[in-house]
Amino acid sequence: MATQNIYILAIESSCDDTAASVMLNGKILSNVVAGQKIHEAYGGVVPELASRAHQQNIVPVVHQALQKANVDQSQLSAIAFTRGPGLMGSLLVGTSFAKSMAYGLNIPLIDVNHMQAHILAHFIDEEGFSKPPFPFLGMTISGGHTQIVKVKSHFEMEVIGETIDDAVGEAFDKSGKILGLGYPAGPEIDKRAKLGNPKAFKFTKPKVDGLNFSFSGLKTAILYFIQKETKANPNFIEENLNDICASIQYTIIGILIDKLKLATKETGITHIAIGGGVSANTGIRQALKDGEEKFGWTTYVPKFEFTTDNAAMIAIVGYLKFLEGDFAQQNVTASSRLKI
Ligand code: KG4
Ligand code: ZN
Repeated sequence: MATQNIYILAIESSCDDTAASVMLNGKILSNVVAGQKIHEAYGGVVPELASRAHQQNIVPVVHQALQKANVDQSQLSAIAFTRGPGLMGSLLVGTSFAKSMAYGLNIPLIDVNHMQAHILAHFIDEEGFSKPPFPFLGMTISGGHTQIVKVKSHFEMEVIGETIDDAVGEAFDKSGKILGLGYPAGPEIDKRAKLGNPKAFKFTKPKVDGLNFSFSGLKTAILYFIQKETKANPNFIEENLNDICASIQYTIIGILIDKLKLATKETGITHIAIGGGVSANTGIRQALKDGEEKFGWTTYVPKFEFTTDNAAMIAIVGYLKFLEGDFAQQNVTASSRLKI
């Protein structure tokens, strides 16, 4: 029996990365991401600049994704795109592009929820990576998101905890800014934390009931701490930078692990799949591994290129929806606050 080859072109433009990917039957053929350096000068993403950069990047990025995959647009079965959540101006670029391309090629259009995609990235066929069994807990941690989601099936998800203010990546980046580090500061804090003492300085963890998170208080506590210490010793930061980074990271990991412990206790689910840029953090990865021994967890961390914002994760959702015949109409609109 001849099996059908399903080629999905996926487009992601929800924040500051313009990305396109081509997938064949659940396997990634290409995964192209154009980052936007312009935001570094501002210490955070500037929505207006992001939207303009997407306009410049989208055509070459899509072209490159098709070329790298060695796929002609006439072979495509459907086009998937990020409908939300994200920055409205950025989402509009990807949405409009996907709609017109699908219309021009007369193939189905598939709308994708970016937060579902971070979790479903675990279902990309990739050698050496296993897929979590249902039900599992998905924890998405990045510069824009901090969420714990109960995943009953590919498309039955329930958010059981999320941040009430800053995302965990922002906690890293804003702390880094206070310390004079570049943006984004997460990778540098991670690097320095390896050389420092995590118990050198103590920061109190926020008290938030249930499975929700709060990180803005931590940032303020760090700011006051640094102001006080540098008043007494102007060289305090440079003399203690590794210890400060290690202590900040230790506090953040503690917050995440405490909530995961509570989530596993409340749901009885011990399979935990993480995603988002912050899942690159070595300390978090180690803490999850330790959790396997200490608490009987089974943890899943996807390939790094599928965990930061990318279009491969949009492609896998596109593929799964294609199999279900779940298509969008041409009048679909971008939705900046789209919920899971
Ligand atoms: O997923 P991502 O690339 O973009 C979104 O925010 O959606 O995540 C970027 C975030 C930044 O806040 C960055 O500081 C953080 O991920 N990050 C890290 C590490 N690598 C990236 N945070 C801690 N440790 C890391 N190794
Ligand atoms: Zn994201």
